[in-house]
Amino acid sequence: MFEHLKDQPADKILALMQAYKEDPREEKIDLGVGVYKDASGNTPIMRAVKAAEKRLWDEEQTKAYTGLAGDPLFGERMASLVLGDAVSLDSVARVATPGGTGAVRQAFDLVRMANPEARVFVSDPTWPNHLSILKHMGIAHVPYRYFDAETGGVDFDGMMEDLAGAGKGDIVLLHGCCHNPTGANLTMEQWKEVADLVNKTGAVPMIDIAYQGFGDGLEADAGPTRLIAAHCPEVLIAASCSKNFGIYRERTGCLMAVAHEAGRHKTNQGTLAYLNRQNFSFPPDHGARLVLMILGDDKLRADWEAELEEVRLGMLELREQLARELRELSGSDRFGFLAQHRGMFSRLGVGPEKVEALREKHGVYMVGDSRMNIAGLNAETVPKLARAIIDVGI
Ligand code: LMR
Repeated sequence: MFEHLKDQPADKILALMQAYKEDPREEKIDLGVGVYKDASGNTPIMRAVKAAEKRLWDEEQTKAYTGLAGDPLFGERMASLVLGDAVSLDSVARVATPGGTGAVRQAFDLVRMANPEARVFVSDPTWPNHLSILKHMGIAHVPYRYFDAETGGVDFDGMMEDLAGAGKGDIVLLHGCCHNPTGANLTMEQWKEVADLVNKTGAVPMIDIAYQGFGDGLEADAGPTRLIAAHCPEVLIAASCSKNFGIYRERTGCLMAVAHEAGRHKTNQGTLAYLNRQNFSFPPDHGARLVLMILGDDKLRADWEAELEEVRLGMLELREQLARELRELSGSDRFGFLAQHRGMFSRLGVGPEKVEALREKHGVYMVGDSRMNIAGLNAETVPKLARAIIDVGI
């Protein structure tokens, strides 16, 4: 049997992580995988998470199974965090999943079950693992224009033109905030136009929101997801707690299915729980429990929000510093988009040969499509990166 297996292509982001580790140069800079790092290059455990873990250690009396959907309180608090009061929580079916990726995978599973003919419209570019999972599952995808390499912003006209080609029952995959890999995002007016267009085509929006709190703040970052959920009759939402709670390895995420039509909730909730059972049975609980404790406790929540805000503002400062350095070195404003982008990533918009030159000559590791993890920088490495960018002729 095993002789039929083939070597699988390495995940580009994870392969880069390995290449960085193996590079002996002291001066190397890691702008690869989307993991937050502080100024000393560490990925700290957030204060509220540590405090919740201590409390959990004292209070937890059993490790018996929760439910197929995870602890219902986790789902409820996640739905509030992401959706606020944009929709009634009774219209939101929800399950805990192993990370945001688990939620994405489960959402595609539900799509395939509900409509095997559905095509998934994905931004060009999108997170490479979206494409990889779709391919693995045999689901057709259609790219829609998104990034304008000339301006570093969104090609909104191109996007709308391409999305108009979606049909009833197709899925339109959108990044709720902090677009990965580009860092370029829609305005709220543009989101409204997208919601109207998606409704006109009869397609179903699916939102991947993995960086809530990293862009313009917890509430502002949820704005587009709330708008879509309020305006569209059916919406899938895959939310991750990996980044904003810093609990990457705990695998904590939530899949939500919003349905405005009365009477849909029970079947949707049952379907999500059924899919959990088929794929892995009960979802992981440790991270979800920390999240539900933090979200449900005023003191822990305030501390978490404050620390998340420090992280967000730190990344914004790095963006501004980098744009400033590049303005001075290049004598132009052509890197101004770096300060406009939001979230962990920015796409430089250059080809793989320049990305390779940055790695070879300067030990700067960014993903081959020129995606940089801004959190991989600090005040000392920003000028080095700026000089390297100019040196390789970007
Ligand atoms: C990323 O895009 O770097 C993160 O979402 C981590 C991952 O799993 O790829």
